[in-house]
Amino acid sequence: MDSFALIIFGITSNLARKYLIPALYDMAEKGELPEKMSIIGVARSPMKKSEFKTYVQQILNTRNIHHQHEIKKETFDDLINRLHYLNGNLDDPEFYNILKEYLNRLTTGGNKCNNRIFYLATYPQLYKDVFEGLNKTYLNEQKKGWVRLMIEKPIGNNLASAKQLNQLLKKYFSEEQIYRLDHYLGKETLQNILVFRFSNGIFEPLINSDYIDHIQITAAEDFGIGKRAGYYDAVGALKDVGQNHLLQMLAFATMDAPSEFSNEAVTHQRIKILKSLKPIPEKIVFGQYDEYIDKVNIDSKSTTDTFFALKTYLQNERFKDVPIYIRAGKKLKQTVTEISIVFKTPINRLLKSMGSTDEPNALVYRIQPNEGIVLKILTKIPGHDAKLEPQYMQFCYRGDPHMHHFPDPHEKLLMDTIKGDQTFFNDAEEVEAAWEFIDPLAKVRGKPHIYRPGTWGPKEADKLITDDGREWIEPSMDFCRI
Ligand code: BG6
Repeated sequence: MDSFALIIFGITSNLARKYLIPALYDMAEKGELPEKMSIIGVARSPMKKSEFKTYVQQILNTRNIHHQHEIKKETFDDLINRLHYLNGNLDDPEFYNILKEYLNRLTTGGNKCNNRIFYLATYPQLYKDVFEGLNKTYLNEQKKGWVRLMIEKPIGNNLASAKQLNQLLKKYFSEEQIYRLDHYLGKETLQNILVFRFSNGIFEPLINSDYIDHIQITAAEDFGIGKRAGYYDAVGALKDVGQNHLLQMLAFATMDAPSEFSNEAVTHQRIKILKSLKPIPEKIVFGQYDEYIDKVNIDSKSTTDTFFALKTYLQNERFKDVPIYIRAGKKLKQTVTEISIVFKTPINRLLKSMGSTDEPNALVYRIQPNEGIVLKILTKIPGHDAKLEPQYMQFCYRGDPHMHHFPDPHEKLLMDTIKGDQTFFNDAEEVEAAWEFIDPLAKVRGKPHIYRPGTWGPKEADKLITDDGREWIEPSMDFCRI
């Protein structure tokens, strides 16, 4: 592979601390960091090399639910040897001249780093300055090598601002250079849904309204917003995770088979799902956890949602009249993300006479933790002729001998960007399709319902589903227990 530089704008951001630096460490640990790769972290404050090293060390040794392993000295040394630090203000045009000079002087393995990936791990308010800075200094040009831009969700704050940002991006970069990142697309457990559905002939024929009663998606976190008040209070749960992660989970679980495994074909199928979503503003509930407004930097009158639950439909033949219930929130009972495909209960006298309850079969994609795919079936209790009970057939990632290859999503998406593969990135049309659905829902957010931390959100969210004679499924921590 040719030598290249990864430039991270915002190396001290929450994103860099929580996801990027740990992902880079993991890549180093697996020997996946390309030999000729240099990494330049950019942030405002001046830091000496030794201070930067201590900073990286501290981050890697901080508890992180996605990276729970010891930090080895040799791996750390490999990583730190490739890492450079450059301080500068991203809104200062002069900074880009300094960056250019720095990059011109930088060599990796004796080669110049003419291939570049710019990663925006910074505030959206600074994007324009960054694009202009890169443009004025020709750093976005691909004359001597390729240039790619990684930009995180959320793209915009609503449809109008997403369109504006996409326009702005288009002014400075071609679509092939833009890697719009929603890290859920990089999750192994999500990507495997496609393989599971389209490689096993036995499930796909059942994934339609003839067999499915409804679909539920839950993304729950037992922690709050931490130190992210500045970002979060202006965004809220629906836009922070609903517009992107949750809709992508739905797309993976319901999209049609792509004609081939290419960026165009896979993205096209995801977009088709997003475009067929029906916004129902009367069927959304917003919540806010008690104590949220006690956080520093939060207005005591803030109406920001830290929870939402909604009902929707896919307006296509395949899922006609199949209700979809989606919920996500912070400070909930458990940290767990899963998709449940709940099947219709067979109207079967024989089963009823055997004492079967109305327990439906369900296919659960457990995204995290205890990652796996679980099929709930009914079996006869041995020795009890007239009793059936639910049993779980499960495929668990953590028991798999290849588990040490289980890549973290940022790791996977960084590798894809290095390789130039955009399959698991959003294009402009996809992002806008997601906002088309979210905008009308976001507009009805009034005062959110307050809920107690440690619960499953406000009781109004239960009503959303119980009114239809159904219930939220309590995610079982027994699945794929390690
Ligand atoms: C981020 C959101 O995109 O995703 C966070 O900004 C959220 O608020 C996080 O906590 C969830 O990601 P994961 O991978 O930890 O489930």
